Amino acid sequence: METTPTPLASLETLTALCKRRGFIFPGSEIYGGFAGTYDLGPLGVALRKNLVDLWIRSMQSHDNIAQLDSSIVTSGKVWEASGHVSGFSDPLVMCKACHSKLRADHLLEAVHVAADEKMSEGELNALFDAHRAELVCPVCGKKDFGQVTAKNLLALTNLGMFEEGDAQVYLRGETAQGIFINFKNVLDTGFYSVPFGIAQVGKAFRNEISPRQFLFRKREFEQMEMQYFVPENEARASFAEWKDERMAYYKALGISASKLRFKQHENLVFYAKDACDIEYEYPFGWGELEGIHYRGEYDLTQHQKFSGVDLRVYDEERKEHFIPHVVEASVGVDRTMLMVLADAYYEDELNGEKRVVLRFNPKVAPIKAMVSPLLKNKPELVQKAQEVRAFLKKIHPAIAWDDNGNIGKRYRRQDEIGTPYCITIDFDTLGETPELKDTVTLRDRDTGSQERLTLAEVAEKISGTI
Ligand code: GAP
Repeated sequence: METTPTPLASLETLTALCKRRGFIFPGSEIYGGFAGTYDLGPLGVALRKNLVDLWIRSMQSHDNIAQLDSSIVTSGKVWEASGHVSGFSDPLVMCKACHSKLRADHLLEAVHVAADEKMSEGELNALFDAHRAELVCPVCGKKDFGQVTAKNLLALTNLGMFEEGDAQVYLRGETAQGIFINFKNVLDTGFYSVPFGIAQVGKAFRNEISPRQFLFRKREFEQMEMQYFVPENEARASFAEWKDERMAYYKALGISASKLRFKQHENLVFYAKDACDIEYEYPFGWGELEGIHYRGEYDLTQHQKFSGVDLRVYDEERKEHFIPHVVEASVGVDRTMLMVLADAYYEDELNGEKRVVLRFNPKVAPIKAMVSPLLKNKPELVQKAQEVRAFLKKIHPAIAWDDNGNIGKRYRRQDEIGTPYCITIDFDTLGETPELKDTVTLRDRDTGSQERLTLAEVAEKISGTI
């Protein structure tokens, strides 16, 4: 069946679909919302799990990558050593007219002026003042801003604070620091030696000044980070390999190649030796998906200095100790979800009917197949369909049931949530046409085409979605 796809995914369209079908709900919605937070609904949980599992599997394809799950709260020294306490900030500016809190660098970007990440508060104010006349508040449209101030992004909490004077703790601003402080623990297990990597998936928190663009910039988000520890002389080659591997990963996932690109960092932070982002063309334009950074020996050196623990590794050949260099690949789960949703969204026409369809890679799809009896008032069809569903659920649990409305409506509902296959049980399945006994109709989401398959053949299709 011919389809005429027209990719069309404004952020508003995606946000509405995600809410309507149970992928993503706005955080604290019944209390009027809570900026920068979103809750995953039934399909969102499944989508997230599939994406995280695929990332973990890609890391596990390397024999020398260990997994870790470190704490969200840590000793405050971790964040002093990492430089987050002194230097992890965004430039805040208030609109005096409507009191909106805005990012000064984003206001400058809107008039095509780039603020360097390394700029001091004074330098930013000078740049902001030079363009003040052009800068407009995106909320109220006025041109009346205060001074730019650098606001630290680390979020504080009061865990275990029983007496005045007890220190507050930081919620981790990135999962990477948990990896650095466990580098020696993993090495000491004896199962890994440099070069090796540590990968982990977990929540991170940042006091983002202006959370925005749906899942793109949140205050509570999730990261999938991998730090690769290498001798200095192998680090540049490793950086190039990780860049290639991570880009190939997204292409293999089926993401449109024309919407992916590398962006080289021109102004490197003082410790970085090289850095680039993989960008995706989101509905609002190009934005960072994943950062691939060659961070030198900075992180381990800092933690060695602040903790007093020797984090060096012994080189048997050279008979000397050294601090490994780090290549990092860091991507947000939320930004991956946003990309996968935006990339899969199509409005097209099938058999003369308009439809919305999410063309997920089947491995990403939250529901793998929907089983349905042709007629819901025929107990023999319903019973057979339930048996088929139970059989397929042994291969993958995400096999849905739908006997509501006519078959066309059932297909539309599954198209909208990206279910790759719909399986219908009819009288031929029961043996009305003897040669078709125990075969079912399998309908393909993308083409709408239908084929008659045995249960073993259907099982094979479902196995291909895992
Ligand atoms: N350890 C390096 C690090 O944290 P980063 O560029 O600040 O680097 C890495 O973050 C990735 O985490 C980003 O590429 C993005 O995918 C995700 N990320 C960062 N801040 C985010 C936010 N506020 N909301 C959603 N995802 C975010």
